[in-house]
Amino acid sequence: MKPREIKREIFSVGAIDWDRRLFDELIPLPDGTSYNSYLIVGSESTALIDSVDPPLCHVLEENLEAVGNPDIDYVVCLHAEQDHSGSIPRVLDLHPRAKVVTNPKCKGMLIDLLHIPEERFIEVGDRETLSLGGRTLEFIYTPWVHWPETMTAYLREEKILFSCDFFGSHLATSDAFVTDEATVYEAAKRYYAEIMMPFRKFIRKHLATLAKLDINLIAPSHGPAYDKPSFIMDAYRDWASDNVANEVVLPFTSMHGSTKAMVEHLTRALIERGVTVKRFDLARTDLGKLAIALVDAATIVLGAPTVLGGPHPLVVQAAYLAGALKPKAKFASVIGSYGWGGRTVETLSSLIANLNVELLEPVMVQGFPREADFASLEKLADEIAAKHQAL
Ligand code: FEO
Repeated sequence: MKPREIKREIFSVGAIDWDRRLFDELIPLPDGTSYNSYLIVGSESTALIDSVDPPLCHVLEENLEAVGNPDIDYVVCLHAEQDHSGSIPRVLDLHPRAKVVTNPKCKGMLIDLLHIPEERFIEVGDRETLSLGGRTLEFIYTPWVHWPETMTAYLREEKILFSCDFFGSHLATSDAFVTDEATVYEAAKRYYAEIMMPFRKFIRKHLATLAKLDINLIAPSHGPAYDKPSFIMDAYRDWASDNVANEVVLPFTSMHGSTKAMVEHLTRALIERGVTVKRFDLARTDLGKLAIALVDAATIVLGAPTVLGGPHPLVVQAAYLAGALKPKAKFASVIGSYGWGGRTVETLSSLIANLNVELLEPVMVQGFPREADFASLEKLADEIAAKHQAL
């Protein structure tokens, strides 16, 4: 198949990874992904923006051959992570005159990760430009989306922003451009939740910088391109804002039904008070779904039975994930059951200690909950509803 020409003499030459189901051996990819790479032909030189994950390097090579195997002068590296950079050494082997164009931080990482020789690099600074002849790439540093070296490239004449992971979605699709906004919204939100969310403040700053550009097309390095850039930029503005939704995220597990009974009761009590509940049975859930729910929720309640003197390991994992992803939640609590003792609340609280949340009075119950325990859950629901209304 001939690679798609997304604009005249700009070809999408990357690879669609239809079957991949896990990233970093951690992140579920229910819809696969793509590693987008773009060939830009100028009147004087040709640039390749990013490469592909090494197992699919042959697809990049086939696509380059299909567009006539032009000499590549520049390989622009926007991000050192190997799903984009990993095939650069092969491209350099095939194009001995090509130089890697990147920022100094990324250069250092590429030398460490891929052992690319120092003399193959051209360093570019923030807002520096590279002319391809009739086409000008402007490099804009956008650190921490999601590594410290990440940057974007703006093709001035065509007003295309090449954004790498920023605005990307793990979505294997034959669409070059977004057609089904609902599907892309979900996939992009999942991607934001899993790797961008801890860097909300950087993202807000970068969105403000990029808002000053006239952008016709955002071409990320995962998922389809956005020919209506406001769709994804507005979504990012919302996700990265401090606005929280009247929602409780309730990840839990239960071994013998006591914690489950508490979760059921709290769920009903919250719904009665007009609070949306997003509940995740951790023995069965896709952690990506949990991450998505954490993007907006005002409150996190962890439902944990006590096992071996502490919280059930599945809830430990969820709490650790919440601590690492740094969602904008404002309140948190713990509910659960224990047999004879334990440090469940202390352990879980310590795992989310870095979140800027007010801890609401936990409800921990010995054995199966009694009337008084259900009353405590009603009180917790009252408190959550009142806190949400006061926001
Ligand atoms: Fe798609 Fe951070 O790599």
